[in-house]
Amino acid sequence: MKLPPSCRLLLLPAAAALALLALHARRPAVPAAGTAPPPAPTRRPGNAAEPTRHPLQPPYPYPYRFLLNHPDKCRERAPFLVLLVVTSPSDLAARHAVRRTWGDEAAVPGLSVLRLFLLGVHPVFDAELRPVLQEEDALHGDLLQQDFADTYNNLTLKTLMGFEWVSRFCPNASYVMKADHDVFLNLEYLAGLLRPPKNDFVTGYVYRRTGPLRDRAYKWFVPREVYPNDTYPPYCGGPAYVLSADVARRVFGVAQTLPLINMEDAFVGICLHALGVAVTEPPPGAFSMYRLEYERCRFSRLVMVHHYGPRELLRLWPRFRNASAPCP
Ligand SMILES: *[C@@H]1O[C@H](CO)[C@@H](O)[C@H](O)[C@H]1NC(C)=O
Ligand SMILES: *[C@@H]1O[C@H](CO)[C@@H](O)[C@H](O)[C@H]1NC(C)=O
Ligand SMILES: *[C@@H]1O[C@H](CO)[C@@H](O)[C@H](O)[C@H]1NC(C)=O
Ligand SMILES: *[C@@H]1O[C@H](CO)[C@@H](O)[C@H](O)[C@H]1NC(C)=O
Repeated sequence: MKLPPSCRLLLLPAAAALALLALHARRPAVPAAGTAPPPAPTRRPGNAAEPTRHPLQPPYPYPYRFLLNHPDKCRERAPFLVLLVVTSPSDLAARHAVRRTWGDEAAVPGLSVLRLFLLGVHPVFDAELRPVLQEEDALHGDLLQQDFADTYNNLTLKTLMGFEWVSRFCPNASYVMKADHDVFLNLEYLAGLLRPPKNDFVTGYVYRRTGPLRDRAYKWFVPREVYPNDTYPPYCGGPAYVLSADVARRVFGVAQTLPLINMEDAFVGICLHALGVAVTEPPPGAFSMYRLEYERCRFSRLVMVHHYGPRELLRLWPRFRNASAPCP
């Protein structure tokens, strides 16, 4: 039976809930507490075919194919900022809100922004979602999808898909920003920090001297087999960070030679370390990893606030963009 799009959309929340259950049930087995961790294998670059690859380690490099792509979107253009937004295939509401708020390419006059959403393949409901996504993409032309499973532990593949796209299809962009969908972003303030265009530049909320969480009870568990060191190089927190486009290209390049880890933000830090690129501290408070209550004038002097959902974004945006309410 072929359902009209509106009916298919109604089925999505149920589908998503089922998918979560299925994923939870499929969590890979890890060694029981108390057993000594196996010695870290000496790695060759590339793990895609290795039988010893840990289940949390995304297979890479691998010739993932674009299922949805816009190779010409950047042709004859040199966007100041390519905005790569992470959403799961079923999260239509988040994409809707992002398009109408901070992800609106025309929101800031004089700022050339190119917005794309990054998607993998829904691990359970790919067949049901495919026509919905095709329709959404026909309407908005802003979905990028490759043929890897869209799961939390595969997020690194999404980021690399975005950097691959910029490297291959948008060589004249100045900056690349990777953002999660559950953030408030102020691109006008960000642009002020980025002008004039720089090279060798990375900024965001900088984590220094942190290390992997070895307790498998955490969503952010990273076993020694995946990353043996006790500390990560400095890196920018995943909710939103920005790189000059040259750095995004080089990160994509060096990622082809390093073992991937399941934490995408720390992995970008590992790539920067390999490249010898330092991260730059933003102005204090410009990237807030915890939620701040909305306050227009405060939000006009920062880049990112984590933990803003679609409904809130849609509600506060008209007030935020209100030109007749100036800040001191
Ligand atoms: C990038 O800029 C160069 C030099 O201005 C130009 O020749 C080239 O066509 C541009 N590429 C794209 C894909 O727009
Ligand atoms: C990541 O994606 C690959 C390719 O689809 C898949 O084989 C693998 O199981 C996924 N990993 C996780 C942890 O979901
Ligand atoms: C991991 O530790 C080794 C040995 O101390 C060091 O040479 C290497 O640079 C570290 N890697 C990262 C990514 O920090
Ligand atoms: C915009 O600001 C003006 C002046 O402060 C206020 O009267 C108006 O209600 C605001 N509009 C919105 C949509 O917030």
